[in-house]
Amino acid sequence: MPRLLIILLCLIFNPALGVKFSIIHNNDMHARYDPVAANYGKCKKSDDAMGLCFGGFARVATIIKEARSNGSVLYLNAGNTFQGTAWFTVYHGQMVAEMMNMLKPDALSLGTNEFDDGVDGLVPFLNKVTAPVVCCNIETSGEPKLHNHQRLTKSVIISKFNTKIGIVGYLTPNTQQMSVQTKLVFSKEIQAINNEARRLVSQGVNIIIALGHSGYAMDQQIAEKCPDVDVVVGGHSQTFLYTGAPPDKEIPTGHYPKIVAKKNGINVPVVQAFAYTKYMGKLDLEFDEQGTLLKFSGSPILLNKKVAEDKAVNEFLESRRESIDDIEKNVVGTTLVYLNGQASSCHKEECNFGNLIADSFVYARALQQMNDTDWTDAAIAFVNAGAIRASIESGVVTGADIASALPFHSELAYTDVKGRQLIDILEFSAKLRNKENDGGFLQVSGLRVNFNYNRPKGKRITNLEALCTTCKVPLYERVHKDKVYRIIMSTFLISGGDGHRMQDPDNPVNSLLRLNETAALTQYLQHHKVVYPMLENRIGNVEKRHRTSLGTRFHGPVQFILIVLFVHCTFFNPTKFILYLG
Ligand SMILES: *[C@@H]1O[C@H](CO)[C@@H](O)[C@H](O)[C@H]1NC(C)=O
Ligand SMILES: *[C@@H]1O[C@H](CO)[C@@H](O)[C@H](O)[C@H]1NC(C)=O
Ligand SMILES: *[C@@H]1O[C@H](CO)[C@@H](O)[C@H](O)[C@H]1NC(C)=O
Repeated sequence: MPRLLIILLCLIFNPALGVKFSIIHNNDMHARYDPVAANYGKCKKSDDAMGLCFGGFARVATIIKEARSNGSVLYLNAGNTFQGTAWFTVYHGQMVAEMMNMLKPDALSLGTNEFDDGVDGLVPFLNKVTAPVVCCNIETSGEPKLHNHQRLTKSVIISKFNTKIGIVGYLTPNTQQMSVQTKLVFSKEIQAINNEARRLVSQGVNIIIALGHSGYAMDQQIAEKCPDVDVVVGGHSQTFLYTGAPPDKEIPTGHYPKIVAKKNGINVPVVQAFAYTKYMGKLDLEFDEQGTLLKFSGSPILLNKKVAEDKAVNEFLESRRESIDDIEKNVVGTTLVYLNGQASSCHKEECNFGNLIADSFVYARALQQMNDTDWTDAAIAFVNAGAIRASIESGVVTGADIASALPFHSELAYTDVKGRQLIDILEFSAKLRNKENDGGFLQVSGLRVNFNYNRPKGKRITNLEALCTTCKVPLYERVHKDKVYRIIMSTFLISGGDGHRMQDPDNPVNSLLRLNETAALTQYLQHHKVVYPMLENRIGNVEKRHRTSLGTRFHGPVQFILIVLFVHCTFFNPTKFILYLG
């Protein structure tokens, strides 16, 4: 009898009936194999020793090992490990796979940048990576090399901790516009996730984690609208979530985890862990035996100097470092000022790094046209803010700095548009301003444009001037709707990147400069030796007024209360009264 009692008690109290485990996760690492400085660029060795740097794969590896030795852990990565440093420029996707393999993830999702070298650049990564890569909303049949690739699946079932966990991948359909054109067909995330999750549930998988790269807004929609999904692990918007006082300079967008309630009242935790290896998210989960999420809690871990660096990772990096050092030692020029490439500036308003890059395009064309009678045939250039991926501190600029800041190497070309289309292009740029994930806002050269954001979309330009090309002395002139303007930009933009329409539909002219954007910037710095790009009102903004602000709405009553308080306080506190009078 006592035996039966023990068994009964065990059945009641045994937590093994359900399951507890943790997810550690990160996203948007952008080839930051080495630790990053405060600006997410390359960290100097001496700065790292002083504790001024963060992350790097050697620290990421340590945290993953530590978490795994602590208990039941899945490591999930939400994409965009491609692109961002000289490491990627030299070694591409294959090394991404080698680095990822050292971290032994349980599953990976694809990111937008995973397509930067096209399908041909993704295949070597897939051939080498050992973890399953999940994405349920791409149709690959148009790309034979990806179709039926054994590493790339809609989902994966992980059998660990005496349970089955389904991981369903997703990727923003905007990838089609953000990267090299492919024959992939993207579908909307929610429907695709629901189809795949249903299939897993029908196979008896009761815990479903959505892992993907569509940005924080979509992550929350997935949590709300995918009934079978228990947890959402995201990326792309590089969102920093934290509860309580943040441990470093990043300001949280919301609590960690963000809790989203489904219609049936069930709460779904949504997580992301910023970017550039600076943090590792950690979410503890407890499910009952039906796979219902009972409890969750967690916090991102800051990867500062307290986290030791994994030896094996560092040794592997050293074995490849020589060619990276060459790029790092290659001094291209000097900047006397900070080259501000931060998304918080360049995606929203004129930034001085955007000016420099756009000027380097105009310069490259002017050199090619040097023996013409006019100073150039293309005085205008655009840079999509999303092409700028890091800032550069004042001082010497190396090839490695440029590789981090302007990593895409998109070819340059020019196109001819009428003034009226130039207006439409810039109005569209204003619409993309500061939108989450969107790098479609344009930095400019050869233009002066003023936007008034109090006016309706599509009618925000209040002034637009362009630098003349056929004039003896270049000067800014009002843009005429019927005049033709030649504009230099990347082939990414010309071919409709970020949703732009850069070609005149009636007369599509475009011609390659036979130079890529990175080479143009490098050339500009080499030729000028010293630069100090400034803000010069190329893009003027009148910001949106908020009508519900305290000042306008409560002006009267607030003033009245202040006067009453003032009289009240001064009456009872004569010293203050005297002070006020003085
Ligand atoms: C591992 O457990 C120790 C002791 O509880 C804790 O201090 C540490 O933060 C844990 N590490 C990770 C990565 O979970
Ligand atoms: C311009 O003309 C000079 C002299 O004829 C020639 O040496 C130079 O290569 C030409 N430059 C370009 C860019 O065509
Ligand atoms: C960009 O141009 C530079 C200099 O010509 C070249 O080394 C580099 O390979 C080019 N990048 C691509 C992706 O073509």
